[in-house]
Amino acid sequence: MASLTVRQLDEKLKRLLRLRAARHGRSMEDEVRTILREAADETGREALDLIEPSTKPHARAAGPAKAVALNVLLIIGGGIAAYKSLDLIRRLKERGIAVRCILTKAAEHFVTPLSAGALVGESVFTDLFDPAGEFDVGHIRLAREADLIVVAPATADLMAKIAGGHADDLATAVLLATDAKVLLAPAMNPSMWANKATQRNVAQLAADGFAFIGPNEGEMAESGERGTGRMAEPLEIVGAAEKFLAHETTQPLKGKRVLITSGPTHEPIDPVRYIANRSSGKQGHAIAAAAARAGAEVVLISGPVTIPDPVGIRMVKVESAREMLNAVERTLPVDVAIFAAAVADWRVANAGEQKIKKIVGKTTPELSLVENPDILSTIAHRTAQRPPLVIGFAAETENVVANAKDKLARKGCDWILANDVSPATGIMGGDRNTIQLVTKAGVEAWPPQSKDDVAAMLIEHIVAALNGVKE
Ligand code: C5P
Repeated sequence: MASLTVRQLDEKLKRLLRLRAARHGRSMEDEVRTILREAADETGREALDLIEPSTKPHARAAGPAKAVALNVLLIIGGGIAAYKSLDLIRRLKERGIAVRCILTKAAEHFVTPLSAGALVGESVFTDLFDPAGEFDVGHIRLAREADLIVVAPATADLMAKIAGGHADDLATAVLLATDAKVLLAPAMNPSMWANKATQRNVAQLAADGFAFIGPNEGEMAESGERGTGRMAEPLEIVGAAEKFLAHETTQPLKGKRVLITSGPTHEPIDPVRYIANRSSGKQGHAIAAAAARAGAEVVLISGPVTIPDPVGIRMVKVESAREMLNAVERTLPVDVAIFAAAVADWRVANAGEQKIKKIVGKTTPELSLVENPDILSTIAHRTAQRPPLVIGFAAETENVVANAKDKLARKGCDWILANDVSPATGIMGGDRNTIQLVTKAGVEAWPPQSKDDVAAMLIEHIVAALNGVKE
């Protein structure tokens, strides 16, 4: 059999593979093995079916492979529809989704912790004050580790409690503590659903960002009753859940804090004049936007720029290098710090408090300069709260790689993105960039591309590094 190494693949394929591996938290080799295994499994099964048609549906035929490693926390409320939630567990698990389960006290009247636990494959959680459960997982961890929380059935009482912000049992405490998306599958008698109080709570929950699936119209459990109040079928709930989970897989930096400096600094000469440079902030702002798209909590610390603020990002606007360092230190701790700002190396030591006057016949004023703090170096050399990944830029006009290697060592950072900013390249202020990524392991030349593509490529590398992916 021919042997294949990841290094022999073309660049584009390698990039896609690196991203896929990072998303699944695997090495690139493991990702290749998984892809081959899945492909062989599917094609092999199809071939077998031709010879020996099977009557059973394929367990994972409808399941998205990408759902692996995603976690759903299923909260089962106390309603007759709770029995359908046992099937829901099965449907989620056969799609490779990890399921944890909480039963409310009322739910235990309809299904037992034993039956739900057998399907989930681990103990279910029932009690907010269960010392064993709190020691083992704890309600805050249950809340944090879920990519999606599904409440099925969501009873009128449970929804009223959630809408009111109650936290007097495990289910409501977890729902109050989570920042994961919550999908509610209401189920109740049609009169209860139509009741103004329930409708008020549903409107409140929708306004608070909760998602709904159902309730459906049809026959109720009580004989002879029809109307709107039936819980959505397990497969409908799975379909809705998968939409939210698919969104999760495109957010590989969810839960990570990323700090980015961008733009130039302005160093005052007097209240109206300053020393500046030609940095536009385009590259730093593009990285901030890409990190936010990848789900990170982003803080963008920017010097004065004329480009618009990226949407949905916490901005801290500063003028001078010293203000920028201050803002950076106040933002720690972070998981990744990216220093894309073109910080002025010097500031005016004797900046005037009043506008320096031009007086005819008097000698021109002299500016004496002092060195600014090196923000990148200060943060990279910290012993406390040093971000696990510190990335700098090296804007050079000659000996690009040699200078970047020197900077990597001197400044103590993990990566340097080196670029040639000689006027002929048009990089400074322009929309395109050509990067050489310099790390302790070596130099990687990136193709000339837009600053947005540089940002996306950097984020891919960061995701891979945080997941410990090695090429
Ligand atoms: O200006 P220099 O080439 O030394 O910049 C290299 C890196 O150091 C850049 O990432 C820049 O943002 C950072 N830097 C800094 N504070 C300074 C000077 C540079 O953070 N005073």
